[in-house]
Amino acid sequence: MCGIVGYTGKDVAKDILVTGLKRLEYRGYDSAGVALERAAADGSVTIDVIRRVGKVAGLESELAHIDANATCGIGHTRWATHGRPSVANAHPHTSCDGKIAIVHNGIIENFAELREALTARGHVFTSDTDTEVFAHLIEEAYEGRPADPATGAPATPGTHDLMAAVREACTQVVGAYGLAAVCADEPGVIAVARKDSPIVIGRGENGSYVASDVIALIDATRDVVVLEDGQFAKLTPEGIFYTDAEGKAIEPAVTHIDWDIDMAEKGGYPDFMLKEICEQPRVVRDTLVGRMTGGELDIDELGLTMEELNLIDRVYVIACGTSYHAGLIAKNLIEAWARIPCEVEAASEFRYRNPIITPSTLVVAVSQSGETADTLAAIRDARIKGAKVFGITNVVGSPVARESDGVIYTKANKEIAVASTKSFIGQVVSLTLLALLLAQVKGKLTTGQVRMLFRELGDTAGQIQWILDTQTDAIHEAALACKDAHSALFVGRGMGAAIAHEGALKLKEISYLHAEAYAAGEMKHGPIALIDPGFPVIAVATRSPVYDKTVSNLKECEARGAKIIVVATEGDEEIKQIADHVIYIPEVRDAFSPITATVPLQLLAREVALMRGCDVDQPRNLAKSVTVE
Ligand code: G6P
Repeated sequence: MCGIVGYTGKDVAKDILVTGLKRLEYRGYDSAGVALERAAADGSVTIDVIRRVGKVAGLESELAHIDANATCGIGHTRWATHGRPSVANAHPHTSCDGKIAIVHNGIIENFAELREALTARGHVFTSDTDTEVFAHLIEEAYEGRPADPATGAPATPGTHDLMAAVREACTQVVGAYGLAAVCADEPGVIAVARKDSPIVIGRGENGSYVASDVIALIDATRDVVVLEDGQFAKLTPEGIFYTDAEGKAIEPAVTHIDWDIDMAEKGGYPDFMLKEICEQPRVVRDTLVGRMTGGELDIDELGLTMEELNLIDRVYVIACGTSYHAGLIAKNLIEAWARIPCEVEAASEFRYRNPIITPSTLVVAVSQSGETADTLAAIRDARIKGAKVFGITNVVGSPVARESDGVIYTKANKEIAVASTKSFIGQVVSLTLLALLLAQVKGKLTTGQVRMLFRELGDTAGQIQWILDTQTDAIHEAALACKDAHSALFVGRGMGAAIAHEGALKLKEISYLHAEAYAAGEMKHGPIALIDPGFPVIAVATRSPVYDKTVSNLKECEARGAKIIVVATEGDEEIKQIADHVIYIPEVRDAFSPITATVPLQLLAREVALMRGCDVDQPRNLAKSVTVE
């Protein structure tokens, strides 16, 4: 995940920037860079930009050979989203004249149209990133814009004021940004802006600091301003000046940070798993950014034409672990909406079978890391047999992305806890988009229906937040009921069955409590023999066409003394008659229930694991990325 640092003051900036970037390393990144002011003997200032692919240590050794005594600069660690990891795509990005340099976190949704317009006005782009448009927009606002004969827009005068230019540029950008900018004509000034991407600012003994994460500041100060959306800051060696979007001075509140470094890395959460679970509303929003343009579903990295998509008559989803469970959900959606037969298979099985593959078969490979050995082998095999392969992965430029015909990137950002949570949500949202697209291309859903479903899909971000805000006590109580069990059963029907599989995997992965998932209707064909008084049965029984059937199955468990924990729909009071513990999720269309109903099960697994004294971030015997067969 990208990181920002900036410093202006009395000390040598490059050392402070490198230290700050190192503090941000744990978040994951693929390249790093800094922009430093260089003063010439005649007093004029230029901006040096130094960027490297790979570790901050590489950048550090390059900087060691550079005579840079600048006392003002900005730095960045990039985790690729638009454009592969490369020097050209690494931040800082500069204006055409090289006088303005910026670093940016977030996603600019309208970057394609901004880039086109800027190019038409003569700006030259040197990267594939969305960020670079910001540098050129600030340049135009600073220097002034010539009249545009094509659109009839009149010339606008330049602000010749970095803060005003940044504010002006922000009015044109749709999307999320945490931004820091420097300008050769205003030495010692760092302009900062924020919308939907974190920025913290602090004043140390010898200067002013900015970062995207408090961990990069806490060596200098523990009193920080957490910038709010629409607020701006001007950092100078002498002080920090805050304004609103109109440039009117404001006085933001100061927060005292009493976290230690370990807590700061986790954003104040006790472990990465909880931090990542709590990031899921953002993952939903980011994964959907730019996917509906002009009222049309837009998956431009598809790599397949609409004609090719229309010919598809069979889909295989291949994956491992949690990603496989995202596939179970996709099967339901692809078959229900697009009416294309869809099979889900563990990649380790698929690669050694002889599946029926024709040129009209679409293989969808799902992998958080993008480098799981079995999934990669299955992709290669499928392509040899003539299938089109589509990848869904969290890592830009990963082998899965490179070896597939097309790819959707989940925008989960680096996931650190071994047990996957936020990546799963990103995968399910991405697979839902794919199912909608297939349905639209096949003429099974109208554009209006697709738009409505897309809107509802976006609503799940707020629904997850509601669960995080209101259900922790209920989840804690349910965890107490499970913690001493030897085994647990997860059940559900339809979408609920798919969610149950992920719930059981989470629990066994991190709490070492044996857990199995079953389609609730299958209970009486075997697993019901396990049930004795106190045996935990965890059910997904949200409002759906199979709700009554699931409740009947739970009654069979209740009759045998099971301890019943149910994930149910808010307002369902009836379920309390059979459930010992109820965890509610907001009312949601059945198709989207996995995005919300999985969240309480992630939290339940974590609570049980903590109660059993387990390390939730690094469970025994498991690896985050499995690159061997
Ligand atoms: C490992 C991880 C799981 C993950 C699985 C598949 O087993 O511990 O969390 O679901 O690999 O990984 P992938 O990167 O392909 O999604």
